[in-house]
This record gives sequence, C-alpha cells and structure tokens, in this order.
Amino acid sequence: MTKRKGIILAGGTGSRLFPITMGVSKQLLPLYDKPMVYYPLSVLMLAGIREIAVITTPEDQSQFQRLMGDGSKWGLTFTWIEQPSPDGLAQAYLLAEDFLDGAPSAMVLGDNIFFGHGLPEILARADTSDAGGTVFGYQVRDPERYGVVSFDEGGQRATSIVEKPEKPASNYAVTGLYFLDGDAPNRARGLKPSPRGEIEITSLLDTYLEEGRLTVEKMGRGYAWLDTGTHGSLLDAGNFVRTLQDRQGLQIGSPEEVAYTQGWIDHAQMEEHAETFSKTSYGDFLKQVLER
Ligand code: G1P
Repeated sequence: MTKRKGIILAGGTGSRLFPITMGVSKQLLPLYDKPMVYYPLSVLMLAGIREIAVITTPEDQSQFQRLMGDGSKWGLTFTWIEQPSPDGLAQAYLLAEDFLDGAPSAMVLGDNIFFGHGLPEILARADTSDAGGTVFGYQVRDPERYGVVSFDEGGQRATSIVEKPEKPASNYAVTGLYFLDGDAPNRARGLKPSPRGEIEITSLLDTYLEEGRLTVEKMGRGYAWLDTGTHGSLLDAGNFVRTLQDRQGLQIGSPEEVAYTQGWIDHAQMEEHAETFSKTSYGDFLKQVLER
C-alpha cells in the first residue's frame, strides 16, 4: 500500500468565535501554551505521517507559514493549499487531489483536540486497516451539533451517519479525524451539496458505509475529544491541557516531542528547539525529553 498522506483542514471563518477570529484564524488561537493547530498536527505525526497538506483560507496562509515553515524543523514536508471559500469538509479532498496523487489519507480538522493513552495504537490500526475508511465515534452530551453515527443492535457495526440531525439516533459524534483510501477525491467529486450548500464529509463517509467499507471505531471513555467551538469550550479545553500538563510534567500536542521520539529529528535539532523555547516551561519540557 502507498504511504498514507496527511491533510490538516484549517480553513473556515471561525464565526462562532467572533470578534477574536475577525483578526486571526481560529486554528492559530492559543490552546493554553501552544497554537491550536499543534494538537491535530501532533496526531497525524503520531500516526507516522510526514507528508502533510495544510489547507487554509488565502488570507490566513502566510500566518500559518510563519508559524510552521516548510515542516523541516519537525522532519515533515508541508504542502500549502488555499481554500478559496468554505464549501464543506469534503471539498478538502478535491483541493488536495493532486497532492494525494492516489495515496490513502488521514484528514484531521485543525480545531479537533484528541488526547488519550492508547492513541498511537488506534491510529496504527486505522492506518493498516483494509477497509475503505476508518472514523471514530465519541460519546457526547449534545450529538445534534455533530455528524452522528448510529450502530446496529450489537453496538458494533455502524448503520448510518447523519450530519447535525435534529433527532440524533445515538450519542455518538463522528470526530474530525478521517482515514480514507485513495478513492476519496473521486468520490467527493460525485457528491451533491447539502441544503446548507456544503459538500458534507458525512455524505462522503456514507458512500463508504453503504458499501460496508467504513469502520467506525469507538473512542471510549479513556479519551478526551475536546470542543473548541465556543468561547467557553475553548477556555475549558485550554484549562484541561494546563491541568494535565502541570500535574504530570508532560506535554499534550508537542510536535517537537513526537518528531524526536519518531526519530525524524536528531539530538542537535532537538537541542535547538529547546533553546528557542528556553524562556518557557515548554523549553524545559523539551530539555527533559532530551535527557530521558
Ligand atoms: C464538522 C463535521 C461533523 C463532525 C465535526 C467534528 O462539523 O461536519 O460531521 O462531527 O466537524 O468536529 P463542523 O464543526 O464543521 O460544524
């Protein structure tokens, strides 16, 4: 199988976080001590993915580039893609079609925060799965805000996925992390826009589900999938990260740590990073990673 490539979708207007996001992209906002996009980036890196397309609005792209560069500081290669207008998540597969060049992909939404002990294992499973795609179901109190997956009586096999249903058939939201095969761009092209005028990711997933080629893996209660969609939830997510990091002396969402432990950057490069951040506890952490 061709090596899986990554997509970070960091477009959108962020209108639910106005006025903050009138001047800066949502995915560049701080989640405690790091920019939001670091967290989903680290998830792709944990999945072993090094070739990543970052999709942003045309206006925001230069700011992302200023922060992230060409990826080489983390042993990655970034391809920068503009999303001229936010016409739905599935549009990302059309914009990234040339970049993917037939390869399977893992797409993560730039505002989705995942945390959990077994994350590398479930990512590895999704990467090697023979099915057409793998997505993750996560139990939430307010499923109507998300794509909702329902399961058969055994609770294992997914039977439907519906975007923001008024009457959700289950409490399981589909998270913003999608492992799909190389056929995704082709399928996205065939989709009709929804009543809200978007090419929905759920419609794309549905094409796989109908053929029995979609695995929906439940992310159990040992995982945190955090929301950053409102001012309050953004603050809560930041506090969650702070609480865990302070308590454990570990970092959530550190691309430097993942790059180093994956062997994509060497000791000297890691020392440089630690030096860059020497005035922060983040720098202290990177030094500890070097010493362990
Ligand atoms: C999008 C998807 C939805 C998914 C959610 C996860 O919704 O359309 O299916 O559950 O991301 O974050 P949005 O946040 O764009 O409304």
